[in-house]
Amino acid sequence: MRSLVESLPTQVRWAVDLEVPPVPQASEVLVCGMGGSAISGDLLATVAAAAGRRVMTHRGYGLPGWARAARPLIIALSYSGNTEETLTAVECAAEDGLDIVAVTSDGVLAQLAASAGWPHVRVPEGLPPRAALGHMLGASARLCGAAGVIPGVVDDLAEAAELTERLIDSGWTLAEDLADGLSGLVPVIYGSGITVAAATRWKTQINENAKLPAWTATFPEADHNEIVGWSGAPRLSERFGIIALRDPHESEGVSRRFDVTREVTSSQVRWVGEVWGQGGSILACLLTLTLIGDMTSVALASAIEVDPMPVEIIENLKQRMREDS
Ligand code: F6R
Repeated sequence: MRSLVESLPTQVRWAVDLEVPPVPQASEVLVCGMGGSAISGDLLATVAAAAGRRVMTHRGYGLPGWARAARPLIIALSYSGNTEETLTAVECAAEDGLDIVAVTSDGVLAQLAASAGWPHVRVPEGLPPRAALGHMLGASARLCGAAGVIPGVVDDLAEAAELTERLIDSGWTLAEDLADGLSGLVPVIYGSGITVAAATRWKTQINENAKLPAWTATFPEADHNEIVGWSGAPRLSERFGIIALRDPHESEGVSRRFDVTREVTSSQVRWVGEVWGQGGSILACLLTLTLIGDMTSVALASAIEVDPMPVEIIENLKQRMREDS
């Protein structure tokens, strides 16, 4: 997993050089996927929103009710190509005559795309889906670019590749310090604005790689509810460690809230750390935070002598669902 995490910049560069198939022009995009595939939709939604465009992520069976009327371009994202929920979303989209493009390494989704003639990108196979983020995100970003939904995406990917590459050595030192601070604690990852999507990635990577529970919360919303929870149950709150994900371009209001909230809650929470994103583009900021999060999840796994690679419970559950259907 360590070397897979380090392959993020190479994967993103692969997407920069990708030959993208022609795709229909769209005013908005709905990314359908689950887990390690769906997170690409959240990262893209963040980039698109800042450009005044709409990308949304749908995690679940079928399609959300609004999609039939709004007719977004559907990007079906499934690394394995066999995820049940995503396949039902694609089936509904095809029934409704929506434009569909697919990103996958194989499976039923690849077969459907080939037989229906949907534009699709085959990403390199053989990786755990969560470790193929650079390929999945990069390919879907390029498709959004080709559909006219996210402008300037190639330059942003190139910047993200360069900055994540440069971060690799110092990133492990930071990740080991963070894992040390979080030792024995349940991580809670705080995001605000653009870093909310990165916080989701941190949580799921800690779940799957370190096999630990973890949660996310958002600023400034947490100042209106969650902070009360920290103050009321001292012995319980001592079991949590907070990491705040910061954006160098965050507003003054958010900056001040992070500082003041830290001051008023620090006596209640056992440990608080923060990590800053880097880069001029939102994508670079998100992927530098993502890289440190991925590294932290591996460092946490190594500190508790857990193998980050297998996620047997997910595989077993998928198998059970197939047997029961
Ligand atoms: C496993 C992982 C999972 C999968 C999810 C959906 O590494 O990250 O969260 O991504 O079960 O599977 P795919 O991505 O194949 O559609």
